[in-house]
Amino acid sequence: MNICIIGAGYVGLTTSAVLAEFGHLIHCVDINSDKIKKLQEGNVPIYEPQLKELICKNSDKITFSTNLPDSIQRCTVIFVTVGTPSLIDGSTDLSFLQSVFTTIAQHLQSYKTIIIKSTVPPGTNQKMHQYLLAKGVSPFMYNIVSNPEFLREGSAINDMFHPDRTVIGIAEDDKRSEVIIRDIYQSLSSPFIVTSWNGAEMIKYASNAFLATKISFINEIARICDFYGADVLDVAKGLGTDPRIGPLFLQAGIGYGGSCFPKDLQALQHIAAAKLVKTPILDAVHEVNSTQLEWNIKKLQEELPSILDKKVTVLGIAFKPNTDDIRHSPAIALIQQLHSLGADVHTYDPKAFLPADLRHIATQHKSLKSSYIDSEAVIIATDWPEICQLDWKHVKAHIKGNLILDGRNCINREEVLGFGLNYKGVGRG
Ligand code: UGA
Repeated sequence: MNICIIGAGYVGLTTSAVLAEFGHLIHCVDINSDKIKKLQEGNVPIYEPQLKELICKNSDKITFSTNLPDSIQRCTVIFVTVGTPSLIDGSTDLSFLQSVFTTIAQHLQSYKTIIIKSTVPPGTNQKMHQYLLAKGVSPFMYNIVSNPEFLREGSAINDMFHPDRTVIGIAEDDKRSEVIIRDIYQSLSSPFIVTSWNGAEMIKYASNAFLATKISFINEIARICDFYGADVLDVAKGLGTDPRIGPLFLQAGIGYGGSCFPKDLQALQHIAAAKLVKTPILDAVHEVNSTQLEWNIKKLQEELPSILDKKVTVLGIAFKPNTDDIRHSPAIALIQQLHSLGADVHTYDPKAFLPADLRHIATQHKSLKSSYIDSEAVIIATDWPEICQLDWKHVKAHIKGNLILDGRNCINREEVLGFGLNYKGVGRG
């Protein structure tokens, strides 16, 4: 199938690479000409494991361009994977999506299946349908399908090859799209959940909100554990063994970040408020997450009452391991707070970089070992494997202080204590 993918972000590129691997011919389009130039030269602008390799492997089946009208003409299927960031009031900025539909309306000359993969609030697929009709496009020339993605950054390729489910939202009178979608994804063995447009849109928000809820829940439990000498790792294990609860997303830490959970939770609160529906659970999830860092910085201050001009090392900059994405990264917020407390902040990340406007507040090291030399405290902000497997003997020999704050509960406490270091985790009792 000739497939047009609009938006070369991590969802668009992952979708391009995997659908090409399935044998489809991909026309990936983006308005950012620098990004497209890089991709045409064989460079992938983001770090996502296996992505570059898969794009290179399928280079004969993927073209990159900025020419959207041309790609629309060539393809029968259009995936929309553009960004839907938050506006200042927490609502979703649909301007990129809107602009794509304006171009589609202008250049639609033969039947198309238009698949919205971008995360959009309930009602958006309907809105785009109304928009095309208002622009005079015949309803027999297209069908719109909602097909939300559940890709985690850092394991997006694997998630796309092995999804838990494929959700598709279609219009009531649409008899064609389900067959087309099943054809596109025929290599997948996961179950299909077929619902309405609004149903599919809600599944995406509810999924992210529920995962964020699990994280804030365990973070709240971790706070209580700290006062009662219980280890949250044991508690999470005991909880997660119950199949009704499940073991995943129960890792306490300095809070969730990234381009999805904070934005999607806010959008869900916003759409509920628009209909006067109260969201006490979502509000609490946000409240716990937004105070989780502060809670852990207090622990640092208890151990290190005077932080002024003290060298402190923050390990990790990305919002999670295996990505260079720093959007809403708790690590960045931590670096900012330590800087505002007067600490001499040093940092290291295997892939992510401090943004240009924050380079003056911390020194980013190229090597993990050089980042902690003479530090008073080492704080783990991102659980990269390299950081979790640190050589604690080397750390002990080279730091000035003694404190290791494990903000992701990802290192071996006994090993760290064994080298005479002072270990503090999140809810480790
Ligand atoms: C999330 C969802 O997991 C995907 O299913 C979804 O498709 C994606 O958003 C999206 O909407 O596009 P992602 O943001 O890439 O994926 O990352 P997650 O692995 O979900 O992690 C999010 C944050 O939660 C990270 O900061 C991570 O460190 C934190 N986290 C995760 C915890 O603090 N504890 C956990 O147990 C799990």
